[in-house]
Amino acid sequence: MTTTHVTLNPADTIAVINPNIYGHFAEHLGRCIYDGIWVGEESPIPNIHGFRVDVIEALRQMKVPVIRWPGGCFADDYHWQDGIGPRDRRPRRINIHWGEVVETNAVGTVEFTHFCRLVGAEPYFCGNVGSGTPRELRDWIEYCNFPDSSSSGSTWAQQRAADGSPSPLDVLYWGVGNENWGCGGNFSPEDYCTEFRRFASFIRGFGKKLNVIACGPANNDVEWTDRFFRKLNKDYWPFNNIDGFAAHYYCGTAGTATQYTEEEWYRLLEKGLRMEELVVQQRAAMDAWDPMRKIGLIIDEWGTWHPVEEGTNPAFLYQQNTVRDAIVAANTLDIFNRHADKVVMANIAQMVNVLQAVILTEGDKMLITPTGYVYEMYSPHQGAQSLRLRIESPEIHFQKTNILQTSWQSALQKGEKMEGKLPAVSGSASIRENQLFLSLTNSHAHEETEVVVNLLGDAGLETAEGRVLSGEIHAHNTFNEPRQVEPKFLTVDVRAHQLHLVLPAASVGTVSVKLG
Ligand code: AHR
Repeated sequence: MTTTHVTLNPADTIAVINPNIYGHFAEHLGRCIYDGIWVGEESPIPNIHGFRVDVIEALRQMKVPVIRWPGGCFADDYHWQDGIGPRDRRPRRINIHWGEVVETNAVGTVEFTHFCRLVGAEPYFCGNVGSGTPRELRDWIEYCNFPDSSSSGSTWAQQRAADGSPSPLDVLYWGVGNENWGCGGNFSPEDYCTEFRRFASFIRGFGKKLNVIACGPANNDVEWTDRFFRKLNKDYWPFNNIDGFAAHYYCGTAGTATQYTEEEWYRLLEKGLRMEELVVQQRAAMDAWDPMRKIGLIIDEWGTWHPVEEGTNPAFLYQQNTVRDAIVAANTLDIFNRHADKVVMANIAQMVNVLQAVILTEGDKMLITPTGYVYEMYSPHQGAQSLRLRIESPEIHFQKTNILQTSWQSALQKGEKMEGKLPAVSGSASIRENQLFLSLTNSHAHEETEVVVNLLGDAGLETAEGRVLSGEIHAHNTFNEPRQVEPKFLTVDVRAHQLHLVLPAASVGTVSVKLG
């Protein structure tokens, strides 16, 4: 067994962890919205106004703070007026990005916002820049947020009342397009910035502060960021109606969702950890243009992207989820916690039945994936003060095949072997009053590690409770065995100013500590 030393001081704070770092993303793609969250009011599957009760309850357990909708690529081909009015009269459109299936528009603006409120989450809407107009976006915001829906109010607010919501929907987060360097219009950074300035000029809060979010780069493309902000600041007049800048990073795959070698296990975990490089370099690029750090860094799509499950529609992006995905999720959330002074939101892709889902459904069955349990275990970090921590971890060395990434989900193997390395243990810590919360992962495929946590400062340790999620490296939950991987009790010894625990191989652990 190896030993890992963790050192932290409860007074050494970074910033409050924005709960929105624990956000999700639900696109009209495959079985995410239809089947995944919506079954319709007539369904025998228990539902509240058409939304699955089992899914709502599971998401409430995870304390989902915010959900991005309706895409993704879908957003820049979505015209919100298709999703209002009587459901049986809504137009049927073709979802050109995801399998050319018919979109019934049964879930529109009022329905989706209602779902968010049932879950306890804020809606985050992504506007259509690629094929839409500034007027469409401006009207959408008025429909959602203009308070007066009486006969003397606005026509859009009256329409909202007719659709079931006399009160404003209070949608506070607005994205101006999605992946506008790609499926959202194939713009250059300068051309997108021109569109962003134009669209954002017509965004109004109607008495509420809105969060206006611009499209950031694919992966860690620093050039996009630099050229976007140069144009934003130097194009005749600087433009200020921007609160967030959103990058996307999918770490992809190695092997398949459930079949991989030990080398591929490490390979994917290492690619997941590259999120840190992205955050560090993107925030530095932003600082050059925004030295007062008024604009938050957002990662509003991230996660693993495996080859689709055999026998499923390739356009639906359905994949299984193992303890490997759980460690990618935990490592990524730890990175966001450690950068709580810059990262203000992140949205894992996607919530149900698509990519790195926290929930999978099949008919009336539902399961929580190992990634879903990580969200539930990590929820005490939300809104707490992030703490600096030092981890002296054993290193893992592994052989990897040189890979040329060709798109989010595919890569060319170039053949030659290289050495790869990653720390066995990663983590983050936070504090809320006298409650310290620590999350740690052990990426080693078969070696446990003894973790010794040293607490600096005056506070003493009173009690500690631990939980752990672990399993053989391919372990996952199925509809026949939905609880193969779930959190269990973890023994933690409290000794004066130290905590001692053993983190099993391939695991995610959390410890809640009461300080005296
Ligand atoms: O999450 C699936 C797709 O990945 C999204 O629609 C798009 O934004 C990204 O390329």
